[in-house]
Amino acid sequence: MRPGDADEFPPFLQAKPEGVARAAELLQSGEIVALPTETVYGLAANALDERAVRLVFSIKGRPLLDPLIVHGLGVEFLQDLAEFTPMARELAAACWPGPLTLVLPKRAVVSPLVTAGRETVAVRAPAHSAMRAVLTACQLPLAAPSANPFGYISPTCADHVRASFGGRVPWILDGGSCPVGVESTIVDVSNPAGPPQVLRPGPITAEALTRILGRPVESRKAPAPSATAGMAAPGLFARHYSPRTPLGLLEPGAQPAPPSEGRRVAWVRFHRPAPESALPAHTAVFWLSESGDLAQAAQGLYELLRRLDTAGFEKIWCEAAPSTGLGVALNDRLRRAAGQG
Ligand code: TXA
Ligand code: MG
Repeated sequence: MRPGDADEFPPFLQAKPEGVARAAELLQSGEIVALPTETVYGLAANALDERAVRLVFSIKGRPLLDPLIVHGLGVEFLQDLAEFTPMARELAAACWPGPLTLVLPKRAVVSPLVTAGRETVAVRAPAHSAMRAVLTACQLPLAAPSANPFGYISPTCADHVRASFGGRVPWILDGGSCPVGVESTIVDVSNPAGPPQVLRPGPITAEALTRILGRPVESRKAPAPSATAGMAAPGLFARHYSPRTPLGLLEPGAQPAPPSEGRRVAWVRFHRPAPESALPAHTAVFWLSESGDLAQAAQGLYELLRRLDTAGFEKIWCEAAPSTGLGVALNDRLRRAAGQG
């Protein structure tokens, strides 16, 4: 690519003091800025500015019934927006800053636009140093969904945001590749009398939450694909995080069927296959980690799916992860990418 190519527009803000200061000023003046977090990039707006928040929904093509996460520096910063229950305080003390989102009773200052009319608000304190620097500089709560068009794969680097939105998101702070690579765990702790409920599995596992709280944590069952009203997390539609190329999920160890004449398929595996393993014809094999390390696989998953999505395959087959630890979150995203909710 040459400088000035359309693909290089817009230029990135750099995650250095000037870039951070500029991003903070832009947010204060009601602009939308794409920012890195440790999980994925977010499309951020001042959470207290309804006009800016509305713009986020429209740029992303996101239905207004799907609420946004509000990002802040920590409990002190976010307690003006959300009522921290005792369980929420315990989880925040153990996991923040980090990839855990807490669903809590909202305070009046939070617009129903942010929460899609709910009495709860989702809040999180991200760990990425550039994001924290912007939060420190602007001193605003930032409403930010993942910076992808609604339903598409989340972005894990600044290039992904630019590839999806071009000039429609003119401000992107380049903080490199996201170290975690899958979206935060969402846990509903809004009811002090009820059990905590994991609404979206993520990097902080249900077992880890149980250990921290010393009590069992429930996991939300997948909703019926058509059920949007009254769902605990309405954004968790059955088909989400999807490449345009059809994606199929394979049980670990299963092989994809050979493709029809003249077609090519991609097969994504969690670890490097043994050199002697036989390959089905017209199948290109990719692996996310040499040894099957799930953290490494998570970090590279969306990058690989985006790359394969533009490589002209008829189908992407992806092996399911072992369903322990981070594998639970990976399988949740893969099932949604395959439209199996
Ligand atoms: O890691 C992440 O969480 C990233 C980064 C940018 O922070 N953000 C992210 O946002 O994944 P988004 O908007 O793509 O997903 C947020 C999810 C949606 O499924 C939404 O429905 C759910 O959070 N959510 C937001 N507010 C909620 C609430 N009050 N109750 C239940 N679910 C909520
Ligand atoms: Mg998202």
